[in-house]
Amino acid sequence: MAQRKSERWATRMGVILAVAGSAVGLGNFLRFPTQAAQYGGGAFLIPYFVALLLLGLPLMWMEWALGRKGGVWGHHTLPGIFDTVTRARWGKYLGVLGLFIPFIIVVYYLYIESWTLGYTFYAAIGEFANQNSETIKGFLNTQYLGVRNDSVLSWTLSGVIFLLITLAVNFWVVYRGVSAGIEKFSRVAMPLLFILAIVLMVRVLTLPRDIATPLEGLNFLWTPDFNSLRDPKVWLAAAGQIFFSLSIGLGAIITYSSYLRKDDDVALSGLTAASLNTMAEVIMGATIAIPAAVVFFGAAVTMNYAEGGSFSLGFFALPLVFKEMAGGALFGALWFLLLFFAGITSSVSLLQPIIAFFQDELGWTRKKAVGVLFVVVAAYLVPLVLLTGKGFLDDMDFWAVNILLPVGALIEIIIFAWILGMKQGWEAITTGARLRVPIIFKYILRYVTPLFLLVLLGSWLVVPDDPKTGALSAAVKTMMLDGVPEENKPYLIFCRVLMGVTLLALLLLLRYAWKRKLDQPEMAPQLAAAEAAVNAPGTIVEEITPELFGEDAQGKV
Ligand code: ALA
Repeated sequence: MAQRKSERWATRMGVILAVAGSAVGLGNFLRFPTQAAQYGGGAFLIPYFVALLLLGLPLMWMEWALGRKGGVWGHHTLPGIFDTVTRARWGKYLGVLGLFIPFIIVVYYLYIESWTLGYTFYAAIGEFANQNSETIKGFLNTQYLGVRNDSVLSWTLSGVIFLLITLAVNFWVVYRGVSAGIEKFSRVAMPLLFILAIVLMVRVLTLPRDIATPLEGLNFLWTPDFNSLRDPKVWLAAAGQIFFSLSIGLGAIITYSSYLRKDDDVALSGLTAASLNTMAEVIMGATIAIPAAVVFFGAAVTMNYAEGGSFSLGFFALPLVFKEMAGGALFGALWFLLLFFAGITSSVSLLQPIIAFFQDELGWTRKKAVGVLFVVVAAYLVPLVLLTGKGFLDDMDFWAVNILLPVGALIEIIIFAWILGMKQGWEAITTGARLRVPIIFKYILRYVTPLFLLVLLGSWLVVPDDPKTGALSAAVKTMMLDGVPEENKPYLIFCRVLMGVTLLALLLLLRYAWKRKLDQPEMAPQLAAAEAAVNAPGTIVEEITPELFGEDAQGKV
């Protein structure tokens, strides 16, 4: 097989913007403000920054370093990287999470992203001017998504058109490739996104008093409730926000950093990307939606919207805010356009690991990889769209984000800090570094981060949701479909079977990919050379054919 020329980022700024783009998404502008409002206001920042320091930043550095190492070995996704590090037959199978998690998230993420595009259009044509707090819910559910009482299935032509446009934009970007597609797009979209966010912040902060002033809005969000810190739920929420927001634990950053060169900096770049993300949520995300809602509806009503979650704030409260605001059609369109751009830069980073896997491990061309992924994603979206009202989306989000993300991160850190080992791990982080990473992070990575993750996962699964009503945790209750209306249960069971089948299919695909490579005798000399190079201490191998390493090379799959 001919050696395939690796793709590379063209510039350092390009890769930083692409990684920041992966991180800055709907989570920053919708999820963060609703979480902060619900979980202690200003006090939420304490568990948030603790999680950033002990989980977010170390895992970000680890993923950048592991990804760059993987790229040098010719692997751009977790199965190949874990296979190389563990030298064990099971390594690649654990890496399946680096494909499964981004796949599940990207399917429903693309769907929500398409709503933001639809809402950009409807805001621009002044559709929300006639809505009130009751009709606006009907607008999303009935008019836009087509959820009806008299039919199980839901869809609307306009919703499908906006979804197809969203898919077309995303797949066009990834089809163009890492540098010509994702990097070029991020170089335009990210500055634009920050400009849009600044325009909206200025608009919100200069709003005249209605029920309240913008300052009172900020005060409402940031007034600390230190009692909330005694509640483990608040700590879990903060850690969950860090994971989702930084896009860590799911393989996206690893794939992006695998297109770096072997001595490109990862320390300063990782820190810069994480800082841009934190700034986008703590400063920008917090200054737009909640304060604007407080100005027009007051603190109590805003709290109701925040407690309803991200959709309630983004798609119910905000259209009403823009209806009240002078120039609302323009600012409403800008707000939803901001969400759309934030969404695309994140969703392309979730598509890329799967494309890279098809290219590396199955030897497919980019065209074939993108085409097949498009068909699979589109097929998956059919039940998601048709059964919107049945809670499909929430269930996929629960499994992928609440359960598998921390599990994925835990597996990654154990493989990095304990199997690869911190000697090599630290070298991987500090090679080419333009920043002196404090040595304490070596110990944080080895001991504190895995322990913190274990405690978080354990308490999430074990701590009773409400000790007065039973001993089950919120996570176990959701797993058991507790509180789901009887008539919706069969659909959610179908959703879980579908996810289970997808996981199984990916595992079989992995098995096939490794077997296929073993069956190619012409690979043998390259494999031997590659393995020798990886084994040699201190050797950094560049541009090895993206093929096998480890035990499997001797015939076990
Ligand atoms: N990191 C992405 C977001 O915050 C997934 O939306």
